[in-house]
Amino acid sequence: MSQLKTVRGMRDFLPEEAKRMKYIEAKARRVAELYGYQEIITPVVESYELLAAKAGEEIRSRMFAFRDLGDRMVALRPEFTASVARIVATALKNEPKPLRLFSVGSVYRYDEPQKGRYREFWQSNYELMGSKKPEADAEIIMLTNSLMKSVGLRNCTFKIGHVGVLRGVMTEENLYEDTQNAVMQLMDKKQYDEAFKLVKDAKAKEKCVKTLKKLAELKGGGVFEIAERIKEYVKGYEKAEAAAENLYEILKLISESKSKIAAVVDAGFARGLEYYTGMIFEVTVPEIDIALGGGGRYDRLIELFGGEPTPAVGVAHGIDRIMLAMQTQKTPLEKKEERRVVVIPTKNEFIGRAMEISRMLRDADIPTEVEVMGRKIAKALEDADRRRIKYAVIIGEKELKEGSVVVRDLTKREQKTVEIEKVIEEIV
Ligand code: HAM
Repeated sequence: MSQLKTVRGMRDFLPEEAKRMKYIEAKARRVAELYGYQEIITPVVESYELLAAKAGEEIRSRMFAFRDLGDRMVALRPEFTASVARIVATALKNEPKPLRLFSVGSVYRYDEPQKGRYREFWQSNYELMGSKKPEADAEIIMLTNSLMKSVGLRNCTFKIGHVGVLRGVMTEENLYEDTQNAVMQLMDKKQYDEAFKLVKDAKAKEKCVKTLKKLAELKGGGVFEIAERIKEYVKGYEKAEAAAENLYEILKLISESKSKIAAVVDAGFARGLEYYTGMIFEVTVPEIDIALGGGGRYDRLIELFGGEPTPAVGVAHGIDRIMLAMQTQKTPLEKKEERRVVVIPTKNEFIGRAMEISRMLRDADIPTEVEVMGRKIAKALEDADRRRIKYAVIIGEKELKEGSVVVRDLTKREQKTVEIEKVIEEIV
């Protein structure tokens, strides 16, 4: 029956997978706390217009968009940035800056499903609003590195570029914003020839095409040297020169933080989203050729939504892809020692006492299950063993008469009779 399958691009998370996902989410939340980001929760369904405003053609065309029963054109969010910018332009508009905001949840894109690419996926998202300074850009890269390290991923590489360099060149050649957007989309997809053809067709000077071509080929791990070369290549294009200088400053701050971040600068790097105005980046691990996270600076979005002009920089991490990378690198989850308990009544009439003792244990913050299948002790213990439960509290007739129960340590295979009031002390 095909309706018993999940819809294409959608997945179930069975207990082990759900556990890993929640583990990453908890780490992301901890990183938010460590860097001073406050969590906000925004709706999955937003106005189509809001989400489409500066998403870029690539994402716009892949939105789950529909009319609701009230004839509103809405969509499932393909990312968080538009929602956060909406809030900063409205409800939080009078908040002092900087504003550091964190969100985590599911997002939706009608991408072609394949390994690491789904139609419903999860992001942890951080936005730093109100600062135009390079330390804000550096912070977003550093927190991304912190998250990757805290989940145990090794050999992360950051690819860093700057939209202001490419746009700076095109703006001074009077290329319309629409043309620039189309060029950037093509460059994002590495379709350089088509991109340069567009620039030529827009009647840009030969020098402009040449400069863009040279930039597209310029990348490497000697980041300061590459940043210097970018400055050289764009000499005479004032805005692009300033952008190259800004990139240099960001790199310098990351280096001075001694975060040991492996980075390459890619001068021809573009990203699918249209709102970027400055530094952009993505993070990868060698085992997987798709980005685990990406972000950048977008200084005009909040203004576009009717808010005060507010410079901003942010990042979203793909939790599903981080999961995949952890599995590929065989990264273990840190184990929390659990002292789970099962309470087993030996007779049906003791079930009320089982309910009472289990309630008492949970009140003391001890995870406790009750044997609800009416099984005999041996079967119930076998099942508890299989599920790695550490203790069984067995309610037997003889002990109960004396106000006691049997506490059995399933790992040590030892047991003793304990007064009911003292059971909690026994479970350590
Ligand atoms: P993005 O690069 O579109 O940026 O997405 C961020 C991350 O989401 C990607 O690096 C990837 O890990 C994950 N991702 C994207 N598409 C899929 C998919 N189909 N399946 C699984 N994972 C996927 C943004 O969303 C921006 N809002 C980031 C940002 C925040 N920029 C500024 N602030």
